[in-house]
Amino acid sequence: MLGKMTLDEKLGQLVQLDASWGHPPDYLGERIRAGHVGSVLNNADVHIVNELQRIAVEHSRLGIPLLVGRDVIHGFKTVLPIPLGQAAAWNPLLVEVGARHAAIEASGVGINWTFAPMVDITRDPRWGRIAESFGEDPYLAECLGAAMVRGFQTDNPSEATAIAACAKHFVGYGAAEAGRDYAATNIPENELRNVHLRPFRAAVDAGVLTLMTSFSDIDGVPATANDYLLRDVLRDEWGFDGLVVSDWESVQQLKTHGLTHDDAGSAREAITAGVDMEMAGECYWHHLPQLIEQGTVDIARIDDAVRNILRAKFRLGLFERPFTDAPPCEPATIAERQAVALRLAQQSCVLLKNEKATLPLNTDQLSRIAVLGPLADAPYQQMGTWVFDGDRELSVTPLQWLRKLCQGSVEIDYQRVLEHSRSRERGGFDAALAAAKNADAVLLFLGEESILSGEAHSRADINLPGAQVQLVTHLREAGKPVIAVILAGRPLTLTNMIDDVDAVLYCWHPGSLGGPAIAELVLGHATPSGKLPVSFPKMVGQIPIYYNQKNTGKPPTAETIAHIDTLDSHAPQTSLGMSAYHLDAGFTPLFPFGFGLSYSTVEYHDLVLSSQHLAADETLIAQASITNTGDCDIDEVAQLYVRDVAASVTRPVRELKGFERVHVPAGHTITVQFTLTPNDLGFYGRRNQWVTEAGEYHIWIGGDSQAQLSSAFRVDEAAR
Ligand code: GLC
Repeated sequence: MLGKMTLDEKLGQLVQLDASWGHPPDYLGERIRAGHVGSVLNNADVHIVNELQRIAVEHSRLGIPLLVGRDVIHGFKTVLPIPLGQAAAWNPLLVEVGARHAAIEASGVGINWTFAPMVDITRDPRWGRIAESFGEDPYLAECLGAAMVRGFQTDNPSEATAIAACAKHFVGYGAAEAGRDYAATNIPENELRNVHLRPFRAAVDAGVLTLMTSFSDIDGVPATANDYLLRDVLRDEWGFDGLVVSDWESVQQLKTHGLTHDDAGSAREAITAGVDMEMAGECYWHHLPQLIEQGTVDIARIDDAVRNILRAKFRLGLFERPFTDAPPCEPATIAERQAVALRLAQQSCVLLKNEKATLPLNTDQLSRIAVLGPLADAPYQQMGTWVFDGDRELSVTPLQWLRKLCQGSVEIDYQRVLEHSRSRERGGFDAALAAAKNADAVLLFLGEESILSGEAHSRADINLPGAQVQLVTHLREAGKPVIAVILAGRPLTLTNMIDDVDAVLYCWHPGSLGGPAIAELVLGHATPSGKLPVSFPKMVGQIPIYYNQKNTGKPPTAETIAHIDTLDSHAPQTSLGMSAYHLDAGFTPLFPFGFGLSYSTVEYHDLVLSSQHLAADETLIAQASITNTGDCDIDEVAQLYVRDVAASVTRPVRELKGFERVHVPAGHTITVQFTLTPNDLGFYGRRNQWVTEAGEYHIWIGGDSQAQLSSAFRVDEAAR
């Protein structure tokens, strides 16, 4: 194919154009007919998509089909929880099934490429795009990113409902300074390799067909021009042979970054660094001919980029099946898809507080529930960010489902109180208080509208917006049990309201079936099992705060608390504890990574190792027992953490190395088993060489990253 192509036809493959406005064939048709377009994005009308493909396949000289891209981030028409919420389910198989259904829906309208999974690691909830991420941990992101790749692509990407996945944004985007989207990142190579690159490697090993470069500047070299990462690491070290696409006009932005003087320079930098296709920009099209003519860009590099693009098209089977004639979704499929969305939403909700077993509400003992707040009946908001194709009609709200489940038994007294999450109008407060006084319990739906997270939507203050905290305080006077149900695109700082409510159920933006998921949890038809994929800071000034941090030379201890209000202002300089903490916040988060309660209590005990020594060719088995000490069957996510106590580079105080979602019937004890090989303990050490070092390791198994059940073992000899 390559041998037959003219230079223009080759350069045409490197071009991805926006097909979202006007009638695309009218303005795109001629360019596609001439063979000057390799891909289009942002059209989900199967008739138009087929028309574009027909022009490419039947009316261009070589008949090369188009890649048709779209952001199918968490579902398509049936919207799943935002990825951060899906991460809270700690259920790779269910995430894979969710992606599979999204691919079936999207491929049905001719989309053959999604710009997901986003596997950026972030430790900064100010960053709006934390909503699209799997949170702060590389291991969890590895597992879930690979699961999404499998779900989108299946193990046969040429299958009709498979769509190409895209691991993004390569790399380090989540480390944007101050959590401000698009801001520069400065990531030492050792951290880049031991944290940020890991989930991309896992996606590549899972067979992801494409990667997208990040907008961000990494240590002075923007990702879209970073030849070290795009060539030395991605191609030479990892052997990736797929397609690399820029982000939206991120080639052109190289000039804005201050890396180049003009678009020609940007085209040169990006193509030379290894960006195969330019999304939505025209630097390549307008400037590569002259750059090749001048000898500044080698035609061999162009051929290499075209090969990567054609390879993706061949792997997707587009040459054999360029058109979409998918039958309308069968009702059974739609019902199955909604069942998956419901389960994923249910498993993503995290019970953060449940004083005096306020939840679940027992409808036999209640006559009226006050359902209050701006997010109880907000079908669009609950879908979250990146829902271009989300069908609002498919969205079922908590209010709708509470009314359905309580019909004929419990009265639902609903008041919105605040028009939206940022509203400061308190006109509805007294009526809300009256409703609370008149009810047996209050379900208070708070949080963020979906527009407050996602791309370019970072916040410097991550408290509940508007007058929501004031509403919580106002309702205290009712003296009734108050359950806060929070829908948000990020961790919020809850310190200013957490003591004024009896229970908190954190539901992220739960998607189309968020209503049934939440209603069934609060009424006890299901039990909460979510665990936090990200730390919740007490206050924004603690950020970045994450569990897998370094110990430092002066670590705080359990006794290190926030004592700014009680310390003696004449206290001697060194008397307040010389360690890494804040006088006004201590050093711990409000809720730690991995944390989540349920409607029963569990005890972890009897951690047993198969050996106290792990030799190079051996596998260590770690086993622990979990007893459900309550009277309700629950699902629990057991977690395994390891610490490399002393190494050639300092290692985190704990690292997640395994997890398993298990069912534990009331009063029963089950055992969980994890295996560890020396390679599982590997890391990039001095001079960034991969190594597993001999020495002492600590190990914990428990229900969150502060698990106390521990043991220790030794690795006898280094392994490379
Ligand atoms: C956006 C995002 C990227 C998305 C692309 C196409 O700017 O950064 O994640 O896939 O453009 O919409």
